[in-house]
Amino acid sequence: MACSIFACKSLRRGKYFVPLFLLLSVLAWLAALSGESVKTFQVHLGPTGKSLRVELDSQLETSSQTTTTEDCPAQSPLLVGPLQLTFDSSLTQEDVEKENQVVVDGTYKPPDCTSRQNIAILIPHRNREKHLLFLLHYLHPFLQRQQLHYGIYVIHQAGDTKFNRAKLLNVGFLEAQKDYDWDCFFFHDVDLIPENDHNLYMCENNPKHLVVGRNVTGYKLRYKGYFGGVTAMNSRQFLQVNGFSNNYWGWGGEDDDLRIRTEIHNMTIVRPPADVARYTMVFHSRDSGNEVNKQRLVLVRSTKRLWKKDGLSSCKYQVLSLDRLPLYVNITVDIGKPFN
Ligand SMILES: *[C@@H]1O[C@H](CO)[C@@H](O)[C@H](O)[C@H]1NC(C)=O
Ligand SMILES: *[C@@H]1O[C@H](CO)[C@@H](O)[C@H](O)[C@H]1NC(C)=O
Ligand SMILES: *[C@@H]1O[C@H](CO)[C@@H](O)[C@H](O)[C@H]1NC(C)=O
Repeated sequence: MACSIFACKSLRRGKYFVPLFLLLSVLAWLAALSGESVKTFQVHLGPTGKSLRVELDSQLETSSQTTTTEDCPAQSPLLVGPLQLTFDSSLTQEDVEKENQVVVDGTYKPPDCTSRQNIAILIPHRNREKHLLFLLHYLHPFLQRQQLHYGIYVIHQAGDTKFNRAKLLNVGFLEAQKDYDWDCFFFHDVDLIPENDHNLYMCENNPKHLVVGRNVTGYKLRYKGYFGGVTAMNSRQFLQVNGFSNNYWGWGGEDDDLRIRTEIHNMTIVRPPADVARYTMVFHSRDSGNEVNKQRLVLVRSTKRLWKKDGLSSCKYQVLSLDRLPLYVNITVDIGKPFN
């Protein structure tokens, strides 16, 4: 038996140290349940080695404080409505970090109320550093004005095989869950910036599609059933449909595939009102490595048959690095390559 925390001498002396140790273990376990972690755990043995005082430090106290703060109001008083977005090419990472010193390791919690949901924002990424910077510049304050507890995850595809947005999002879902029991997942393109903070980044009882309009298409829905750009599902919904397909390499189709998965499960897609669900799409030409996926129409026809076998349940990948940067968690991942 290790006796690092206890004095070994007294350990040999008293035989009630075994039950005592058990009691301490239970206390530690309870503390771990109620707080996120117990920072210090001090044990004082009295001079006789028989009296005992246990101090559970800081985390326990703070966690009881957070449980007593009230839920954030149904509508945040901090919302400002439509914003005129500007894209200053001289904006730097340091600027955005300075603007967001309240964000730690890509996460934020409202200081004086308890967020109604805990949101993980998943952003698939490769070669879009400038877009990411603009998005972070607007998205952090946007989410803070909505009084959300959130974490931003950038899932960075390593290598130069074709881009696979859907598989990266599956990886993001699986990895973000290891950090925290997030209620709600946002699947967020890097080049779409929300213009109006009344477009709430929270989940509903059905999957939610947030990009009703984009400046590049005159703020009209691209087509009936469009489910791309920015979508949100809670973990139960996403697990039920087995996540995204892993088989869409290159641009397009994976969002329709996800819509079909939700339809199979009799879910309906909800959308916020068109006057708030507006996005600015930052201009870019199609990246190399993200060419149109010519097989997408064929693939979409087999979703009904394959969804159970192809998805979260079959998502194989290797995390190459996980960096907790000030503004986001960078999960760099090897997701393999297409079969053919
Ligand atoms: C959409 O907004 C972006 C960023 O301001 C701009 O680059 C792009 O030209 C706009 N597109 C249209 C069609 O207005
Ligand atoms: C969806 O609804 C149809 C028709 O009501 C039903 O047959 C089917 O079992 C439902 N599917 C699920 C997954 O609930
Ligand atoms: C993420 O980390 C990888 C590996 O260190 C790096 O190559 C990449 O540039 C990073 N991406 C972002 C957006 O931080």
